[in-house]
Amino acid sequence: MKQWTLEERYRVLKSPEEIRELHERISRSVYRQTYHVQPVTGLSSDPNGFVYHKGLWHLFFQWCPWGAVHGLKYWYHVTSKDLISWENAGVGLKPDSFYDNKGNHSGSGISDGEELYFFYTGNHRDENWVRTPYTCAAYLGKDGKPVKLGKPLFGPRDDYSEHQRDPKIIFNEEKGKYYILIGAQTLDQKGTILIYESEKLLEGWSFKGQLHVPGYEDFGGMWECPYIVNISGYDLLIFSPQYTKLPGRAESTNHNVYLIGHMDYDSLTFTPISDYRYLDFGFDFYAAQGAANVGDPDKAILISWIGLPDNHYPTEPEEWEGSMTLPRELRIVDEKLVQTPISGIESLRVEEYPADGTFPSACEIEIETDGRDFELALFTKPDGSGGFTMKYDASQKTAVFDKSGMTKRFNENVGEVLPMPLEKPLQKIRVFVDHSSVEFFVNDGEATFTSHVYPERDEFHMSVSENAEMRIWKLRPSVEDRFVV
Ligand code: FRU
Repeated sequence: MKQWTLEERYRVLKSPEEIRELHERISRSVYRQTYHVQPVTGLSSDPNGFVYHKGLWHLFFQWCPWGAVHGLKYWYHVTSKDLISWENAGVGLKPDSFYDNKGNHSGSGISDGEELYFFYTGNHRDENWVRTPYTCAAYLGKDGKPVKLGKPLFGPRDDYSEHQRDPKIIFNEEKGKYYILIGAQTLDQKGTILIYESEKLLEGWSFKGQLHVPGYEDFGGMWECPYIVNISGYDLLIFSPQYTKLPGRAESTNHNVYLIGHMDYDSLTFTPISDYRYLDFGFDFYAAQGAANVGDPDKAILISWIGLPDNHYPTEPEEWEGSMTLPRELRIVDEKLVQTPISGIESLRVEEYPADGTFPSACEIEIETDGRDFELALFTKPDGSGGFTMKYDASQKTAVFDKSGMTKRFNENVGEVLPMPLEKPLQKIRVFVDHSSVEFFVNDGEATFTSHVYPERDEFHMSVSENAEMRIWKLRPSVEDRFVV
């Protein structure tokens, strides 16, 4: 595997010509996605600046142009009219100032109806590599590119560690105020969220304090990518706790969790009404971000990175990796989170595919079963061996996923077997397969499971238990892979 020097990882992109050939090469990879957002070259990670504004959805993601490595991060911009078809719009934010000299780290967007604003972390490092994270802002210029403000909104607090980043901007209607949530770490290395308040978007920010979440005072060493949204009168708190192992997550120390509860912006307390739960039970799901300006009090729209920090993927030698998930809709029904694929995704179905024991590299598989024990094996060899399996044990109401049977194995040290506990008996599964990912939506949104997969050419065979009805549709491409930088 390539060993990167600091200079190589943090090299500034001066001209698109420096990566045009790389794009041409990687665009021939059999693992390029066809209906998921992915990087033109290099690495994509967290979704950023996800927002609806004047008829268009804007999405950015953390992008390192040079290869499958976390180095100098840009915001790469894509747009969509319907959250299904996406177009590349080129570089959004560039690390070209003092405050972000070592990267435009994660952040969010918000529209006031007239203008579109972005909030991001300027990752500054000095000559001794000491980090100072600044909370910075930008607005969308007339040419459709973000324009950065000259000065940050605020710098880091010295009563917390250097880990203060990922501003999520939210407007609280009750208070008539804006809040910025910052993912942070206390000086004794506990994960937390810092809250800033202002009446205006680009000025007047003051520190309100640290969020209290009773019962979660010692839950991971850093909370990345925080998000709070009100859905149908409940508040949903989402964050990505790090530096801790959690039950049912094998050896992983990076997680994405949620709590349903009530947020009080006066006492800065989020009171959960139930235990935390994993936003997704899969091997590769992290740093999820909800869109702003969705315009529906009963739903949120979320997108996530298919990948985990510290992990490595088999496309690394091809000098690219990463993908966004499909956008998903979040609702709260009977005090439970329900996650469904973005509505209208059925428009990608081009034709029904015969259930003949094989499946196409971009497809949707819908399965109905009866709550008894059940097994599904995808990506097996022609003789049925190997594959990516899901085995549901009705007595435990738990499905266990195992990816160890695939020829291309990766991140074995993090774990290749993960459970997905259910509350209701297993009845329904929708699986979205693209060239290097699978996303399972179970029981109409009760639980989800997202993972990368890198099948060999002879691994498009499958089998399913007899107590199941199955339909498969071939899906058409909806995300362009055009070289726009
Ligand atoms: C999460 C994260 C964020 C940070 C960004 C840098 O994956 O570590 O906290 O802003 O990635 O790329």
